[in-house]
Amino acid sequence: MSNAIPIVRGYSHPYATSASPVTSPVTHSPILSSSIILKSNIGAARPKVLRPFAVGELRLLLLENISEEAVQTFKSHGFQVDHFKKAWSEDELVEKISVYHAIGIRSKTKITERVLQHAPKLLTIGCFCIGTNQVDLVAAARAGIPVFNSPFSNSRSVAELVVAEIIALARQLVDRAGEMRQGNWNKVSKGCWEIRGKTLGIVGYGHIGTQLSVLAEAFGLRVLYYDVVNIMPLGSAQQVNTLQTLLSQSDFVTLHVPELPETVNMISTTELAQMKRGAYLLNNARGRVVDIPALIAALKSGHLSGCAIDVFPSEPGANSEGAFNDQLNSWSSALRSLPNVILTPHIGGSTEEAQRMIGQEVSTSLTRYLLFGSTPGAVNFPEVDLRAISDDQTSFIRQVNEILSDHNVEKQFSDSKGDLAYLLADISDVSEADIRDLHDRLHKTRANIVTRLLT
Ligand SMILES: NC(=O)c1ccc[n+]([C@@H]2O[C@H](COP(=O)([O-])OP(=O)(O)OC[C@H]3O[C@@H](n4cnc5c(N)ncnc54)[C@H](O)[C@@H]3O)[C@@H](O)[C@H]2O)c1
Repeated sequence: MSNAIPIVRGYSHPYATSASPVTSPVTHSPILSSSIILKSNIGAARPKVLRPFAVGELRLLLLENISEEAVQTFKSHGFQVDHFKKAWSEDELVEKISVYHAIGIRSKTKITERVLQHAPKLLTIGCFCIGTNQVDLVAAARAGIPVFNSPFSNSRSVAELVVAEIIALARQLVDRAGEMRQGNWNKVSKGCWEIRGKTLGIVGYGHIGTQLSVLAEAFGLRVLYYDVVNIMPLGSAQQVNTLQTLLSQSDFVTLHVPELPETVNMISTTELAQMKRGAYLLNNARGRVVDIPALIAALKSGHLSGCAIDVFPSEPGANSEGAFNDQLNSWSSALRSLPNVILTPHIGGSTEEAQRMIGQEVSTSLTRYLLFGSTPGAVNFPEVDLRAISDDQTSFIRQVNEILSDHNVEKQFSDSKGDLAYLLADISDVSEADIRDLHDRLHKTRANIVTRLLT
C-alpha cells in the first residue's frame, strides 16, 4: 500500500503516541485501551458491499393490519410475507410461529417467553408502535432476538394536538360544542382568550417539546421550557432553571417528560399551587406524571381554568363503551364532571401520518437486520452496524487481530468511514513489556496512522 500514511504523534512516552495526556503503563494486570486509526490506499481499493443471501427463504408474519407500505417494502426485498388484520392469541402464536423468521406486531399481540420457546427460527421482532411492553424483552434478548420499535415517529402528531388543545382550552371550545350537541345556545366571551401574547411552559424539551415550541411561537405564544438537560432553544424560546419558575410564569403548562421515578406525580398539590391562577394544564406525556386527585381539587377551587388530559394511570386495554369509569380510575367520574376539561383516549400520536412513518421505520430496521445484521435502534440489544470497508482495511484488520490474538481482548470495536478506519480494543493482563511489544507491532503495520495507548 504505497501511499498509506503512518502518522505517529508521540513525544512524551515511548508507548504514548497521542497528543492526550497518557499515564505510564502499570504492571499489575492493567487494562489497556488501544485506539488505532488507519488509512487505506485511496482510490485503489473498492468498498466491499455486503450482500444478503437466501432472502426468499425468509418468512415474515405481520399481524394487526400493519401498513400496506410495510408489506410492500418487505415483498420488494424478496421476503415471503403472510399478513393478517387481527392480533393472534398466545395459543395461536405457539401453534403457528415455528415457521417464521420475523414477526411484526402492534400493541395487542403479546410475545411471551412461551411464544419464544416455540419460535426456533425467529430472528427478530418488529413492534410497529411506540412501546414494547407487549414483548418479553429479556426473554427475546436471551434467545438472541433483537426487538425494534419506532419511538419518535408520532412527535409531530402530539405537538399538533397540543396546539389544538391550547386554543380549545382558552376558548372553552369543547364545552360550547358539547352544549350545541345538546341543542343549547350559550354564547359567552367571559373567560375566553386569544393565545397570542400568552406564555406557554413546556416541561421536557425533547422530540415533542421542541416541535411544539416552534409551532407555538408561530401562534404568537412566548415559550419557556424546563428540562433536566441543557438544550439549545429553538426560535426565541427560553430555558428556565427550575420547574417552579416555569410554573409561576406560564399561562399554559404542558408536560412532555418520560415516566421515570422522578417524574411520577411531578405535578401534584405543591406544583399546582405554584401555577398562575387561571392557568391551564395539559398532559399528553404519561398518565402517572400528574396527581389527578390534586388536579381535580385545583380545578374545583377555580385555581386552574381547565386542563387537557390524554394519558391516564390506568387505561382500558381495548375500545369499549363505558370503559373510562371509576373502576378503572377511582376519580374518573369526578374529572368528567368538571367544566373545561378535555379528556381524550390516548390519541396524541394516533394519526395516519404517524402510522405510515412507524411502518417505514420499523420495516427498515427489520430489513436491515435480516439482510445485514445491523441492530441500531434495537431496544434490547447492543447496537452494531457494519459499514462497507475496503479490501485494504480488511487486510489491516486481519493484521491487527493477529497482533492482539495473543492477549486477553475484553472489548473490541472498529468502524470505517470512507478510506479511514478506527479500532478500539480493551486488553487486560498485560505487562509493560507486552505493551511495548503491542505498540511497536501495531505501529509498524503499513496502514497505521496513529496508535494511542490508554492505561
Ligand atoms: N399522548 C401520546 O399519544 C404520546 C405519544 C408519543 C409520546 N408520548 C409521551 O410523551 C413524552 C415525551 O415524549 P418525547 O418523544 O418528547 O420524549 P423525549 O425523550 O424526546 O423527551 C423527553 C424530555 O424530557 C426531559 N426530562 C426527563 N426527565 C425530566 C424531568 N424530571 N424534568 C424535566 N425534563 C425531563 C428529557 O431530558 C427530554 O429532553 C413521553 O412520556 C412519551 O411516552 C405520548
